[in-house]
Amino acid sequence: MLTEVEVAEQLPVNLFEFEAIAAKRIPKQAFDYFSSGANDEITLRENRNAFERISLYPRMLRDVDRRDLCVTLLTGQRISMPIMIAPMAFQKMAHPDGELATIEAANNAETIMVLSTLSTCSIEEVAARAQGNLWFQLYVYRDKAITESLVKRAEVAGCKALVLTVDSPLLGRREQDVRNGFHLPAGLTCSNLVDSKLNAMPLHAGDSGLAAYIHALYDQSLTWKDVEWLKSITTMPILLKGILRADDAELAIKHGAAGIIVSNHGGRQLDTVPATISVLRKIADTVAGRVELYLDGGVRRGTDVLKALALGAKAVLLGRPVLWGLGQGGRAGVELALALLQSEFELAMILSGCATLSDITRDLVEQ
Ligand SMILES: Cc1cc2nc3c(=O)[nH]c(=O)nc-3n(C[C@H](O)[C@H](O)[C@H](O)COP(=O)(O)O)c2cc1C
Repeated sequence: MLTEVEVAEQLPVNLFEFEAIAAKRIPKQAFDYFSSGANDEITLRENRNAFERISLYPRMLRDVDRRDLCVTLLTGQRISMPIMIAPMAFQKMAHPDGELATIEAANNAETIMVLSTLSTCSIEEVAARAQGNLWFQLYVYRDKAITESLVKRAEVAGCKALVLTVDSPLLGRREQDVRNGFHLPAGLTCSNLVDSKLNAMPLHAGDSGLAAYIHALYDQSLTWKDVEWLKSITTMPILLKGILRADDAELAIKHGAAGIIVSNHGGRQLDTVPATISVLRKIADTVAGRVELYLDGGVRRGTDVLKALALGAKAVLLGRPVLWGLGQGGRAGVELALALLQSEFELAMILSGCATLSDITRDLVEQ
């Protein structure tokens, strides 16, 4: 597959190099939208810095000859590694194949893709290519009928879980998008919302067009009660994405969430919130295995995956590097990004004395 990666440059050897190549290939407005964080981007940087501050304490002489990276999730799905694809909007801005390329790459890697409400290919189009490995991420619209129809469509299309994003009653202020007057390029739409006529985004609102869209249409009155409402209209397990506090994790369990994704939206919402890896331990202690715990934000190295699992995550979700892979080679680029991270993670396991995921215990990061 690697020969299909349309890179004029040398193949990237790590996920950071993917970004540098993507910066040259993806149009500026799109690259800025993908890469940036909110305000001063303190959380965006902290997501990385916090991983880098954590030291590993490897065990020696443990027989790591045969490894098993597979993990079975709450949905009963077994995936090849504890690395999934985070929901990200507007993937056709990175490559004309958009979300279709991403699901094909997820199939190839035998992992899960979470499809954004704001995808540029519809739920049905992406589900038609999926192999039982699609989850749907939900933004709740003021118009309950639209929200309900998105949930039903995801269920009918075979999505195995519903990921409710709880950190975005409004869009964080991404100043680069404001400067660029961010809008969807001509020809692209919010494909899940075509019928509801909510697919159009203001072309230039003197601000980010996306911010204006969300301000007008998302339900800012969302509360825990709505989690129960969602539970009443779907059989899909519901995961809450965007939890950063142990008491909110407790509430998530109380209101029936099947899983929690510790996330700060890749530093794109409230700036100066802590890095996700910094809050994981406390949340894991509160959750104590009652529901499944996942993490995203700044995962770029195999050692990051190891650290997240050691601190209590069942799996991590990968964000921007997927878009960088898409931008440089469509499906093959995403496959390459996932394969790189997987092999780095496997090497990190081997070098720290772990043959299976259950060998990844907290003492690897705490002595
Ligand atoms: C360009 C972009 C678009 C995103 N769109 C969504 C979205 O539609 N829904 C959502 O819940 N999260 C969205 N996110 C957040 C990601 O799901 C994820 O939380 C974050 O990107 C993980 O951090 P990372 O990019 O550092 O890996 C988006 C992130 C990016 C970078």
